[in-house]
Amino acid sequence: MKSVIAGLLSVSLAQASWAAPATPVIDVYKSPTCGCCNKWIDHLKANGFGVRSYDTDNVAQHKARLGVPPGYGSCHTAEVGGYVIEGHVPAREIKRLLKDNPRARGLVVPAMPVGSPGMEAGDRKDPYKVFLVNRNGSVRAYAQH
Ligand code: CU
Ligand code: CU
Repeated sequence: MKSVIAGLLSVSLAQASWAAPATPVIDVYKSPTCGCCNKWIDHLKANGFGVRSYDTDNVAQHKARLGVPPGYGSCHTAEVGGYVIEGHVPAREIKRLLKDNPRARGLVVPAMPVGSPGMEAGDRKDPYKVFLVNRNGSVRAYAQH
């Protein structure tokens, strides 16, 4: 019974946080020395997101807390609207996630693909996928770049 109430609460909180701000705020956990993290944050701001960034030497603790599956990690971990956003996920897919509001943990771009937002290197664009992480920790392709 307790867990049902907690579940209902978290659903209504998630809906409230999705409905309230036009430009949702993203919390970003990153290493103090990470340059590409700052470039990704610039990309988010340029696309209308508010960003609160936290420097930490233990980003792994946030990956564990938010349920980033083993092997799908990247340099930074972020939170928005109850979802985890791991790695260099394009703002466009974050907006789509918040609009679709699926029952899921969030989105991940594993590692750091060259050409993803914050990982620009001239004209080089390596192909990469954005994955949706389901509640049970399984993943499926959400977008292909
Ligand atoms: Cu990075
Ligand atoms: Cu980063």
